Amino acid sequence: MIAYKSAFFAANNRELIRKAKKRTSNTEDSLVNNMWAYLLISAVSGLIAFKLALILYRRRKYPEPHFDWESIDLDEISFPENFLWGTATAAHQIEGNLTNNWTVHEENKNLEKSGEACNHWNLWKDDFQMLTDLGLTSYRFSIEWSRLEPEEGSWNNEAMDIYSQMIDDLISRRIRPTVTLHHFSHPVWWEEKGGFADENNLDHFLSYCERVFDALSDRVDVWCTINEPTVFSTMGYTLGQFPPGKRSIRLTLKVMRNLMRGHAMVYRSLKSKRPEVRIGIAKNVTLFDPLNRWSPIDWPVSRLLDWLWNGAWRKGIITGKMLFSKIPQAKDSLDFVGLNYYTHFLTGLFMPTSTDELEFAKRPHEIATEFGYPMYAEGFRRAIEFVAPLNVPIEITENGVADAQDSLRPEHLKRHLWIISEAIKEGYNITSYHHWSLMDNFEWAEGYSMRFGLHEVDFNTQKRTLRPSGELYRSIIHNSKSK
Ligand code: GAL
Repeated sequence: MIAYKSAFFAANNRELIRKAKKRTSNTEDSLVNNMWAYLLISAVSGLIAFKLALILYRRRKYPEPHFDWESIDLDEISFPENFLWGTATAAHQIEGNLTNNWTVHEENKNLEKSGEACNHWNLWKDDFQMLTDLGLTSYRFSIEWSRLEPEEGSWNNEAMDIYSQMIDDLISRRIRPTVTLHHFSHPVWWEEKGGFADENNLDHFLSYCERVFDALSDRVDVWCTINEPTVFSTMGYTLGQFPPGKRSIRLTLKVMRNLMRGHAMVYRSLKSKRPEVRIGIAKNVTLFDPLNRWSPIDWPVSRLLDWLWNGAWRKGIITGKMLFSKIPQAKDSLDFVGLNYYTHFLTGLFMPTSTDELEFAKRPHEIATEFGYPMYAEGFRRAIEFVAPLNVPIEITENGVADAQDSLRPEHLKRHLWIISEAIKEGYNITSYHHWSLMDNFEWAEGYSMRFGLHEVDFNTQKRTLRPSGELYRSIIHNSKSK
């Protein structure tokens, strides 16, 4: 009996222990499950809190000001006595009848042909009279490498002589020649070697620049090495809309670095020849703002693009390091910074990968320009603030708007000049303004459809006609000079 009882108790105990164990393991399981759920909820809410904090931080750090322009008196502007008033052009866009990387691209991509352009190569004397009539004191234009060295190593001295005559003529008009050495175009033979995509080609670029410098620097004091390196590299190698029409991020970064190397090489060499000249670069500062300022996606996209477009370049000049490469000779390689400002881009997840797909977003109250992007003069001030840490004088080397009817340009001009005037009052060292452009011209991939001129050009007759905005600019210059 006792044996039976103890067997019974033992069995009962085992059953109890088993049950107890099961209960414990159920409780443990649910504890573990709860812990995971808890951790997950904490991680997700932590992430949300972090994202929100980051958005709030970025909203504060990168404001996107918009002014009530109605309440601003745009005639309240003043400029220092020695401020220079100018317009800007580029060889391929106005000279006409060239053979270079661009004409090849126009042919290959079946684009509108630059052809005769403004026939400026033959009409430059008349065009320079227009500068005088506007009352300008500076004129920014570019030298066409393909004219001077159409074949590798064979130089066209007659063409150089024409550029030299242009310089003399400008000086006799008391207009400062502001010369750009590379404004998007170069000889076909150099493009065939890979252009800026191959670091070995930079020697050719350097010897072209040295040659021009040797011929003209006794009269030209202000030089831009390269126009808009980031536009050149992204349009030509990411979006494929400019020559050579490639689409590769790897190549884009390579070209960006080589443009920096090329600029630095030219800067060092020319400065060693004549330390007194002033050498800079024309940098397009486009601002990237998130389309939705509360979006956790639009913010990183806009910051990344801003870094690639603007930040990496500025870091290159300040530190001599750019996009994971050391370019020590680039450090402090500017005597002035040329600022080209047009607009801001509102960026989100679905960014276009070619300009055909480009549909520019704009804020509801912003006015779209003919190019599609918004007029955002407030951003001009931000662009000035962006280049200020370079600690060199700022020359506005381009600013303007496509507007065939001239209905927006007067307001555009006034707002942007007001921004400069305010910035100067607050201590920014801005020494010149060059309006883009003197006259309608060949607007790259857009052909002749975009009209940026203070003068309208009839491309059938080559007649130039001053637009009302041109008259406005002339009177602003006149008033500023007589103050
Ligand atoms: C700039 C370029 C100029 C002109 C202007 C108007 O990026 O340097 O050549 O085309 O844009 O879009």
